[in-house]
Amino acid sequence: MSTQDLRVGIIGVGMMGADHAERVAHRIAGARLVAVSDPDTARAGALAARYDGARMIADPLALVADDDVDAVIIASPGFVHEEQVLACIANGKFAMCEKPLTMDSESSLRVLRAERDAGRALIQVGFMRRFDPQYAQLQQLLASGQLGRTLLLHNTHRNKTVPNPEFRSEMIVRDSLVHEVDVARFMFGEEITTIQVLSPAPTSHACEGVIDPQVAVFTMAGGGIVTNEVFVNCQVGYEVRCEAVSERGTAIAGRPQTGLYTTLAEGGEGYWGGLADPDFTVRFNRAYDLEIQAWADASRRGSVVGATSWDGYAATAVCAAGMESLASGAPVAVALADREILQ
Ligand SMILES: NC(=O)c1ccc[n+]([C@@H]2O[C@H](COP(=O)([O-])OP(=O)(O)OC[C@H]3O[C@@H](n4cnc5c(N)ncnc54)[C@H](O)[C@@H]3O)[C@@H](O)[C@H]2O)c1
Repeated sequence: MSTQDLRVGIIGVGMMGADHAERVAHRIAGARLVAVSDPDTARAGALAARYDGARMIADPLALVADDDVDAVIIASPGFVHEEQVLACIANGKFAMCEKPLTMDSESSLRVLRAERDAGRALIQVGFMRRFDPQYAQLQQLLASGQLGRTLLLHNTHRNKTVPNPEFRSEMIVRDSLVHEVDVARFMFGEEITTIQVLSPAPTSHACEGVIDPQVAVFTMAGGGIVTNEVFVNCQVGYEVRCEAVSERGTAIAGRPQTGLYTTLAEGGEGYWGGLADPDFTVRFNRAYDLEIQAWADASRRGSVVGATSWDGYAATAVCAAGMESLASGAPVAVALADREILQ
């Protein structure tokens, strides 16, 4: 392996961190996995043992400061991101931080100020849909003007089930809808000015007291409207798509591409079709690969691609307003800081 490789450390090796470890170790050119950190040291140690040249560093902040780590992937829970992102900035290290950037607008603003004071952008936020080939193509199509001005977006976000009873109504806004927030900002190239979260009668498959599905409506700065259905116990599979409605046409990213046309005889009936994706690790596997490859390439060049810390901050601010709307049912204006003074 070349000595020019980006030496990557990963903080938090649960589901996403372990997935990224495999990716960096085997699928990303110009990068290698050198360290992992997790309070569950047994898990981190076992993971490090799987990859040649990787070691476990118990303290995540020691991993960030380590001279043998060039750049960091942060895949710990959102409530510890702030400290770890700030440590990356203080150490001058590029970081790919899984969403959310932080848990509230104030802490995201502290990240933006730290980057401004450091004099350079170092943080990419893990909004991987920007790297999904169909989503990226749709954004390019809309930006090209070929379809005319974009008027509406309709986002659909369905998971088969979320069995975790701790996944409450607020988490549907903060952990699921947050992706649609970034999609809306990415496709329109504008900020969201208001959000309203509607609460239909819940499915009987949701945990007690959880509002699922939810419908959120965004108003964009230029007057466009975005409707979003988030349904995390839809029972069928993982379904994520975005339909854009423009003045001269429409386009959809995320239609299932099963590859195979299949038929099946079951219970005396004949069925045709294909399988729904089971979850996001399958549906967005390619997007995650492209996201981390682009991050590694940009880090080696000394730049940042994809969603920036401003994008992470804006998404957090919209979700904060969304949680207020979830409680009241009323539209809530999104409060954003003046971008100029943060650059
Ligand atoms: N981009 C996406 O599509 C996507 C999908 C799922 C999760 N995520 C995000 O990825 C992050 C991790 O989610 P997950 O599903 O892998 O969670 P997880 O619970 O499976 O894993 C989290 C890991 O972090 C460890 N951890 C806890 N405190 C820590 C600390 N202080 N420092 C370092 N590690 C710590 C835990 O022990 C655990 O191993 C979250 O921010 C989540 O929102 C993003």
